[in-house]
Amino acid sequence: MKIKNILGREVYDSQGFPTLACDIFLENNRYVTSIVPAGTSTGLFEACELRDGGERLMGKGVKKAIKIIETKIAPLFVGEEIDAVEMDRKLLELDPSEQKNVLGGNTMIAVSMALFKAHAKSLDLELYDFIARVLDNPTISLPVPLINVINGGAHGDARLPIQEFLLIPHGVENFTQAMQVSAEVFHVLKGLLEKQGRSTALGAEGGFMPTFENIEQPFDLIMEAVTAAGYSKDMFGIGVDVAATQFYDDKKKTYSWFGENKTAEQMIDVYASLSDKYPLLLIEDGLAEQDWDNWTLMMEQLGTSVYLIADDLVVSNIYHVAKAVKKSAANGIIIKPNQVGTISQIFESVMLCKEYDLNMVASHRSRDSEDTFIADLAVGIGAQFIKTGGLMRSERLSKYNRLLFIEELQSLIDLEEL
Ligand code: PGA
Ligand code: ZN
Repeated sequence: MKIKNILGREVYDSQGFPTLACDIFLENNRYVTSIVPAGTSTGLFEACELRDGGERLMGKGVKKAIKIIETKIAPLFVGEEIDAVEMDRKLLELDPSEQKNVLGGNTMIAVSMALFKAHAKSLDLELYDFIARVLDNPTISLPVPLINVINGGAHGDARLPIQEFLLIPHGVENFTQAMQVSAEVFHVLKGLLEKQGRSTALGAEGGFMPTFENIEQPFDLIMEAVTAAGYSKDMFGIGVDVAATQFYDDKKKTYSWFGENKTAEQMIDVYASLSDKYPLLLIEDGLAEQDWDNWTLMMEQLGTSVYLIADDLVVSNIYHVAKAVKKSAANGIIIKPNQVGTISQIFESVMLCKEYDLNMVASHRSRDSEDTFIADLAVGIGAQFIKTGGLMRSERLSKYNRLLFIEELQSLIDLEEL
């Protein structure tokens, strides 16, 4: 099926800022749309965003990116038979720079995601299925959701240094049940916050953002919610995205933690004692992106019992992921397509993860949209986990709801095959 047209569009993300959409029109009146998410706590080595600058829309407009899509990228592909892998390779040739300073990472990922959607559509395949086929991934399984319940750091209350508290349902039969038990706990947690006179306002990713005086309080509250919802404590784990780069002082090499300056060793001790006291299963960005050697130390001390996930440290980029492998710095990574700029590069990192048994956490961004690409990507690549926010705000729920549909679809397919 041939591409008839490729257009860029300015739309708005979940925080009301402009972002880039890309529409690919195929023959037979088929079309697809992708929408680029954006981060608030971004890693230093992420692909850059091309924004217009100037007065309009606080300088965040994307008209320059639209122009690049329509004048530089579209002419290469319009009239051609859709081939996502090959076209993505050509796209990368247009700007092979690590941080996509020529075309902009947002420009490239908008087109890249749309190419994969369009190719899947041309074959009448679901996107996750198409991705699984491209990667020769024979088994379709759904990721475990990491449900954002409390937001701190750059996403919420400034007094809580940890950016995200994540509820991890395990010991459940399937994704559908994982969502059900998590939704029950989420609502009980809301009730507990109200009872304690704490705020139930939502943070950037659809979790609550009350104020806490110490690090134990949010852990206690989550465990209380689990029990009050009628579940045993061993049905849930807790994950945290510390996003530690945000409170790291690169000169002093210390972390600002509830009014104290802590060394990396002391931070690791904090995590060790939290994991003794609570079912702390996963720590993302427990240390800063510059603090490589201490990541290795953290792995030595906690890596056998806790998922130590690198986000800002590796920015989904194969070069940094390879460094993490070499230094034994993490046992898992975050997968965020807009951190690198093309889906092919995400696939390179995925292959490396598979080779070295690194866990993968497919992830949304704090400024996201109704685009559910990340849900299909998580299934297609076989990610162990997905992180797509709390259970309020539809830009977060749309991903969970897409995964519920995929689970339903897969069970129908399995039945047919019986
Ligand atoms: P971001 O946050 O989208 O603001 O970067 C998500 C994360 O850090 O995982
Ligand atoms: Zn993160």
